[in-house]
Amino acid sequence: MFSALQILTAVAVASINIVHGDNVGWVDYLGDNNQEFHDISLEWKEGSKVPNWLYGTYVRNGPGQHSFGSDRRQMNNWLDGFAKLHSFKFIGEKVLFSGKMLESNNYMASVKKGELVPQLTLNAFVDKEHDWNILEEGQIMAGMMEGTAFDNFNPMVWRFGEKDVEKGMYMAVTDSPSALRFNISDLSTMGLYLPKRIPFPTTGCAHPLREPGTDNTLWFMTKIDMLTGNKLVEIQRYKPSDSFDAPEVIASFEPAKTSIVHSFSVTEDYFILFMYPLDADPLEIMAKKFHIMEAISWKDNTDTDVYVINRNDGSVQHLTTQPMYSLHHANAYQINKDELVVDLCEKNPNALRDYLTVDKIFNPPETTDWKTVKSDEFSRWNINLVNSTVTKSLFVDSINNSFVNMLDFPVINENYRGKPYCYLYGNSLIDYTRTAIVKKDLCKEGGDKVWYRENHYVSETWFFPTPGESLPEDDGVLFTLVFDGELKQSYIMLMDAVTLESIAVSYLPVNIPWSAHGYLFPEAQF
Ligand SMILES: [Fe+2]
Repeated sequence: MFSALQILTAVAVASINIVHGDNVGWVDYLGDNNQEFHDISLEWKEGSKVPNWLYGTYVRNGPGQHSFGSDRRQMNNWLDGFAKLHSFKFIGEKVLFSGKMLESNNYMASVKKGELVPQLTLNAFVDKEHDWNILEEGQIMAGMMEGTAFDNFNPMVWRFGEKDVEKGMYMAVTDSPSALRFNISDLSTMGLYLPKRIPFPTTGCAHPLREPGTDNTLWFMTKIDMLTGNKLVEIQRYKPSDSFDAPEVIASFEPAKTSIVHSFSVTEDYFILFMYPLDADPLEIMAKKFHIMEAISWKDNTDTDVYVINRNDGSVQHLTTQPMYSLHHANAYQINKDELVVDLCEKNPNALRDYLTVDKIFNPPETTDWKTVKSDEFSRWNINLVNSTVTKSLFVDSINNSFVNMLDFPVINENYRGKPYCYLYGNSLIDYTRTAIVKKDLCKEGGDKVWYRENHYVSETWFFPTPGESLPEDDGVLFTLVFDGELKQSYIMLMDAVTLESIAVSYLPVNIPWSAHGYLFPEAQF
């Protein structure tokens, strides 16, 4: 499925494997797989201890297909791969496994043509000579105006609408103001949903959240008033009865600057938005031939804007703090009305453009120094609304393990969303291929735990709380997908969330390539 360049890099990695016994199967993990299959009953490995209280449908989203046959317009960013959904229907100890490509218009047109059709992409193509011509650029521009120039929503899934298999709007989402609906039962694509076009929506957010204590969705969009040129941030609440294009607007304000923002936090009363000194200007995106990440720019010595929006009255407080960048908020909570805590997974801002380019991801370093990357360290931000201060602190590595303080893909017990919490689960990645699952104890030193296997490539987890009242926060089971590089095969794993020990494994009949995020829909029981 890959170009000659990628096959060559694959061979290079294979020879590295022989010398170092490292990165085994990594390139296989990156292989495309657009195979469609439905409700395959999985078998747990002998000795697995599977709780009988697992219910609902977990859906994972990620790139499944990068090539359509043509040598032209080969993608240069792994995340430009077209979205494939995988679902796991939990029925007690039984699990049904399905997979299907999301059939967006741009995907289907590219399949039909055998080559990527004109659309927005993240990065420029492997061969710059293959870029869009002037006519195709006009097509993309028209698509941007009508909201169809980008429909490859591959990182995340969410339910808008009612908590009901038939009425719920199960959506693939990304940092776009639109969403692509799918059927939670068979993963078939149900069409693109657009927000209202006035004011003109420019970006959305890949990580909506539930409003604590409700089934509402909290989300935000950036918009532009085409008459005045003013940029707006719109903080939105979708009640289950709201249609996709008519949310309640909690607050609307003009930001000090626009920014690439991928997630936000909620607390009992507040919606918290960090707007970093990293942006991709729309005019620059056009100048870079509609490749978004080629247009990003980091503004040195420019503060991060922090907006704290009171969801009860819509008031907005603007604070500032040091320049920094984070893709994923982990969680936030209120110490009291005026003092808030926000936990962020920080990232080197250049990683957005460079980390997942094919030359890098297909050629991971042969050796590693196992050091925590300072720019990627997990951090805590204390906000004082009276003093208007936002101050950063770091966590101690009290178990002497490089993985524990650079976790990303943060996951918590969702019953603690927006509330004081102690346990955070995540993936920690060193030099691409040294991947670990981490349990971070935020309340006491020495409580961190790490699960690591050489040449096993982990991905995001999901926390299933044990049913019952007044149980400890970490009483539950973690679910995750792993790729076994030695066997070149994907497997699912359940872990004891207290000890981080593996308790159940099932190897999958179809491999799942490197994927992004997933979500459990407990109401989707079959
Ligand atoms: Fe994300």
